Amino acid sequence: MNILVLHGPNLNLLGEREPEIYGRTTLREVDVMIRLEARRLGATVRCFQNNGEGELIDLLHARRKWLDGLLINPGAYTHYSWALRDAVAAVAKPCVEVHLSDLKARAKDEPFRAVSVLDGVRAGLAGGLGPRSYVEGLKLLVSLL
Ligand code: DQA
Repeated sequence: MNILVLHGPNLNLLGEREPEIYGRTTLREVDVMIRLEARRLGATVRCFQNNGEGELIDLLHARRKWLDGLLINPGAYTHYSWALRDAVAAVAKPCVEVHLSDLKARAKDEPFRAVSVLDGVRAGLAGGLGPRSYVEGLKLLVSLL
């Protein structure tokens, strides 16, 4: 079972970026958590981070035949990248969307966070649990495969 993990823009700064929202765990540590859980679940994971919309789409295209499922935190692209939505739809493999923060709560002050372009093309969603969102998202994805 092959899982592609994509982290979108600004997630390379996890640990130092707005720690009151995203916490102190670094992306490297998040990837370790993902790999440990993947091993427990018997899944193979490949993790990538990129700040570019096109680069994320290229990563998805390049591994579309390899992956059985996609775990993705699109960062701010969540809210406006229709190209990313089309790419997820084109690849047509189960996708679970992940967010560290609670977007529903944040949308009260920042309404743009209420929209996810993946709504309708993703199979599941895990968010609001900090780095544990990735672990819960991975479990959900594996349960769907
Ligand atoms: C995020 C939430 C997005 O709204 C934000 O733009 C991010 C991170 C999260 O993981 O909580 O960059 O995807």
